[in-house]
Amino acid sequence: MEIAFKQRLHWLVLHGFVRGVASFGARRGDLQARLIADPSIKADPVPFYEEVRARGPLVRSRIGYLTADHAVGNELLRSDDFRVLSLGSNLPAATRWLERRARDDLLHPLRPPSLLAVEPPDHTRYRKTVSSVFTPRAVAALREGVEQTASSLLDQLSNEPGVVDIVDRYCSQLPVAIISDILGVPHADRRNILQFGEFAAPSLDLGLTWPQYRRVQRGLAGFNFWLDEHLRQLRRSPGDDLMSQLIQTAESGSQETYLDKSELLAIAGLVLAAGFETTVNLLGNGIRMLLDAPEQLHTLRERPQLWAGAVEEILRLESPVQLTARVALHDTEVAGRAVRAGELVIVYVAAANRDPAVFADPNRFDIERDNAGKHLAFSGGRHFCLGAALARAQGEVGLRAFFDRFPEVRAAGAGCRRDTRVLHGWSTLPVALGPARSMTHAR
Ligand code: HEM
Repeated sequence: MEIAFKQRLHWLVLHGFVRGVASFGARRGDLQARLIADPSIKADPVPFYEEVRARGPLVRSRIGYLTADHAVGNELLRSDDFRVLSLGSNLPAATRWLERRARDDLLHPLRPPSLLAVEPPDHTRYRKTVSSVFTPRAVAALREGVEQTASSLLDQLSNEPGVVDIVDRYCSQLPVAIISDILGVPHADRRNILQFGEFAAPSLDLGLTWPQYRRVQRGLAGFNFWLDEHLRQLRRSPGDDLMSQLIQTAESGSQETYLDKSELLAIAGLVLAAGFETTVNLLGNGIRMLLDAPEQLHTLRERPQLWAGAVEEILRLESPVQLTARVALHDTEVAGRAVRAGELVIVYVAAANRDPAVFADPNRFDIERDNAGKHLAFSGGRHFCLGAALARAQGEVGLRAFFDRFPEVRAAGAGCRRDTRVLHGWSTLPVALGPARSMTHAR
């Protein structure tokens, strides 16, 4: 098949078809269809969460089920009756066949062998290999690196105390620098990686427009090509980074941790991309929320021991990953309703995180909330976020260092939300930094 035709066909089958169904369903008030077709939900999803919740713990829609209920979501994420979604696997049989023929073989976060799209036994083996390198000890040791990197990025900002886009200058730079250090990515490649990530970020969304799809494909292709070369380079001359260790573990010959080349590429790619595409949102959301709630920021300045809890509350209220999906492995029952084998359930974790049955006065931002950590922002069960500890460390250290350095910082404009549905954050956030505090007096 000619490449341009193949791409068009792939888009049509995977996204065009869903867009058609969604815009038809949305006009008839179908909730999940509206989630795909209605751009206002991206900008302000809270009224939508409440609508889903008002219709019950499990809501039927044209494309599957939807839940905003904390107990149901929590159970689904841990259930052995469900598996993760693999892109295209839920299409009707004939369309699924077409999708397979038309797809390219680029890495995709929602297609095997990505960790996010596989289940045991492969998932167990992949996870074991990565966890043997990404140990809690290795992650704890990285915390110091986070402090140093945050501090040197803030040094650069201290020399220009005007209005800056804090997403571009800090929130995106910190995670990419940290994960790049961990994975042995040379400094010169980091801008490129951010660019690939920006292009590919909507790859987690369904119902992309043709221009969005093409941008995603460009991002995935650039990333795939670069990563392949990067792994080759590390194989030739390993460093003391975790990626070099991962390659050695994966190729050492032990059956339990063996990964073939495509598995290694997919896992390395996911860890790298998940490492910066999500944490940027935690930092941006956190800065914005605290600028909008000066009394909470004041409390944090008085009692810095509250920072860890504040990060949990930020993750709860403005979850950087808004939703995930599961597919029933066989006929089963959820919240008293029959769900048939192959049916899809969207777990709206951001909505579950505002469930009044778990969180009192759920829409209130309260850094002292004692059960904020019950949120599902990092998912749950087998697929619980592998980078949660690192993300928490970056949130805590990165936000605290920022507000310590710029005590008079304030918002300088509305900013722009990212144009993604699953990933939730700011693409630009202008702030007036004000004078920088000398760090010898800061703590
Ligand atoms: C605030 C930041 C982050 C958030 C909100 C977040 C959220 C999530 C969520 C919701 C999932 C599971 C999706 C599902 O169940 O379908 C996940 C999985 C994953 N995350 Fe994160 N993540 C963050 C940061 C990171 C970082 C820093 C890394 C890498 C160091 C990372 C690596 C991964 C990986 C490899 C998986 C796949 C795990 C599996 O499927 O077994 N994440 N993340």
